[in-house]
Amino acid sequence: MTILVTGGAGFIGSNFVLDWLAQSAEPVVNLDALTYAGNLQNLAALQGKPAHVFVKGDIGDRALLDSLLATHRPRAVVHFAAESHVDRSIHGPGAFMKTNVEGTFTLLEAVRQHWAALDGDTKTAFRFHHVSTDEVYGSLAPDAPAFTETHPYEPNSPYSASKAASDHLVRAWHHTYGLPVVTTNCSNNYGPFHFPEKLIPLMIVNALAGKPLPVYGDGQQIRDWLYVGDHCSGIRAVLAGGRLGETYNIGGWNEKANLDIVKTVCALLDELQPSAAGPYARLITYVTDRPGHDRRYAIDARKIERELGWRPAETFETGIRKTVQWYLSHGDWVANVQSGGYKDWVAANYAAR
Ligand code: NAD
Ligand code: TYD
Repeated sequence: MTILVTGGAGFIGSNFVLDWLAQSAEPVVNLDALTYAGNLQNLAALQGKPAHVFVKGDIGDRALLDSLLATHRPRAVVHFAAESHVDRSIHGPGAFMKTNVEGTFTLLEAVRQHWAALDGDTKTAFRFHHVSTDEVYGSLAPDAPAFTETHPYEPNSPYSASKAASDHLVRAWHHTYGLPVVTTNCSNNYGPFHFPEKLIPLMIVNALAGKPLPVYGDGQQIRDWLYVGDHCSGIRAVLAGGRLGETYNIGGWNEKANLDIVKTVCALLDELQPSAAGPYARLITYVTDRPGHDRRYAIDARKIERELGWRPAETFETGIRKTVQWYLSHGDWVANVQSGGYKDWVAANYAAR
């Protein structure tokens, strides 16, 4: 038995592959295009382990997909590969349509052909697990109930629109062709290997470098934050026991305003690596808001708990402490991801704010 993971060199995908192989002998074929967000250093601990087969390639490459599926005959596909950053989707939506929409379509077609040729128990047990986001549901009013799985889709950014489109494709491939799919819609993740274009790692690396901590608008936008290891355990639970064609929301029961997140990161750094120049919160800088910025996301994660017994293991306090400690002890990883095109992105996103 083998599983095929797409996007397994990115933030969540690499955490998933590492966790999977720490808990199971079942091999992983890891297909990743190694865009700016993909990093083989995340998988360095797996070097020389035959249970991890890395393949550099694009989910839009049908011939490659056909050959991987025929060679490895996976019993499941777990689909993480995507363009994932909202700000980048505002600067350049094309890559999001190409990978998230067209790439998911190409993958679904290849998997459908593979699955159709299976028989017996192998066919019945096959799964396509689509990893998606709570951002497809749009923005919540301050007092509105959290997103359930039946909340209408109201995506507001090019990123969330492209993920919503991919969710709809996955749904349609189940209803029309019977492809055995499950979809998870998760809230904001944080943890090791998080690329420092996203809020939490950006704040950690900027603070340590004595650079401004850019808070968009008034900093009162609310997100639900989940430790990445908990997202990975939620995916494993749904892959193993989720009902076919169903979607499951995964969240941390942890709504926080961005400014509170930034202040928490600063306080932890003050404790763990104090700066001679004074408290890190002195670096907080309010900058122009993100266009179309969603005000609040919140996840109702009762379905996955009721049906599959999943709940997050980390609290925000334990998860954020682990995360800050991880960044403090992985300066080489940070330096590596900040080389190359990273500086161009920082200039493009922040110079004019
Ligand atoms: P990421 O940007 O860190 O990683 C994406 C990975 O996909 C990278 O390794 C990249 O090289 C690879 N990739 C991109 N385009 C590809 C292509 N065309 N073919 C093959 N590989 C390609 O993203 P992430 O934060 O790890 O997110 C993973 C998935 O989880 C995404 O589908 C995202 O929408 C979803 N998600 C993310 C979050 C979050 O907070 N980060 C929350 C909920 C859902
Ligand atoms: P981000 O990590 O980009 O995730 P998402 O947009 O998918 O939720 O951003 C999290 C929140 O932090 C979001 O409300 C935007 C805000 N933010 C800032 O205030 N400053 C920043 O420099 C970044 C990257 C994000």
